[in-house]
Amino acid sequence: MNNRNTNNFCYQNFDENPNSVNILGIDTSCDDTTIGLIDGNGKIITKKKMSLECDYYGGVVPELAARMHLENIDKLFLQVLGDKTIHAISATIGPGLLSSLVVGSNFAKTYAKIKNIPFIPVHHLEGHIYACFDGKSPSYPFLALLISGGHSDLYLCKGFGKYELIAKTCDDSAGEVFDKIGRHFGLPFPAGPHIEKSAQKASKFITPTIAMKGKLSFSFSGLKTKSIMIQEGIYNTSWFLQESIGLTLKEKVSLAIQKTGVTQVFVCGGVAANETIRKHIREIYGINVLFPPLELCMDNGAMIALAALEHIRNRTTMINDFQIDEFPRMSLEDYYG
Ligand code: KG4
Ligand code: ZN
Repeated sequence: MNNRNTNNFCYQNFDENPNSVNILGIDTSCDDTTIGLIDGNGKIITKKKMSLECDYYGGVVPELAARMHLENIDKLFLQVLGDKTIHAISATIGPGLLSSLVVGSNFAKTYAKIKNIPFIPVHHLEGHIYACFDGKSPSYPFLALLISGGHSDLYLCKGFGKYELIAKTCDDSAGEVFDKIGRHFGLPFPAGPHIEKSAQKASKFITPTIAMKGKLSFSFSGLKTKSIMIQEGIYNTSWFLQESIGLTLKEKVSLAIQKTGVTQVFVCGGVAANETIRKHIREIYGINVLFPPLELCMDNGAMIALAALEHIRNRTTMINDFQIDEFPRMSLEDYYG
């Protein structure tokens, strides 16, 4: 754990009467403005999102996304807040689009200062991980497979803030490949859920490919090329891609278990919503695997509040660090390094 700033936050209410305190979480790391509210036991009270729909240029335009976050954030905040009082406020400070992150994190910092409540900066991937535990603290060690639009990472988590990055993608992430193949077939963004539906209509089952077989690292760009080269329609290609990604992830997790001896595995991030991928990972012999509820797989503010709750339980030095800068890229290992 690093020693950024001290915190002067009183933990008494969170320890003694967690039902009576609320934590708000904000995520503006990409193109959705998302806010969630949980209580001190990690129970989700409410969560809402506004999608920015600024993807008519074929992808997210950072400048437009930041402006739309700015337009939406106060309205969404008031909807989530309702008549509740909040006792701590948290926001994603990275990784993500810098100008978008700044909107959410400055909103949270300002609200914390005005109301004199703690501000808790959260690493986006920590949010995905702590969405898995239904508000409880996990037992360590565990492996975390993070599969989203921005990441395909495997971490060995030895304790809160003690994360070792044991594998990452050398090129595209799993979600990125779903989205790129989806765009090729004219599907809406994010394409993952549409590919999953299309795969159910497949009539030809082309043998799936395991990418980088025998190696712990991920590489998905070859799979993307092969999905186009097979020259099948949308249904058969979706089936091929989904099976290939599922079997590839199954192989990587099996190798990670062999390497570390750790059998407790948490799979999170938007792609973890995919039922075929879940099925393949569950098949690994001896694995003790957990996925977040479907509504917590994709980016959401509640997962940021859940990670903030772990910061409070672990008394981290990041709490009330108002000097902390937003960042576009950084692994969890370097963040705590
Ligand atoms: O975690 P997330 O909301 O955002 C990032 O942090 O990147 O993940 C979004 C990604 C997108 O690439 C989306 O296509 C993918 O998750 N995704 C899925 C499914 N639902 C979302 N991929 C496959 N199957 C799904 N059901
Ligand atoms: Zn995410």
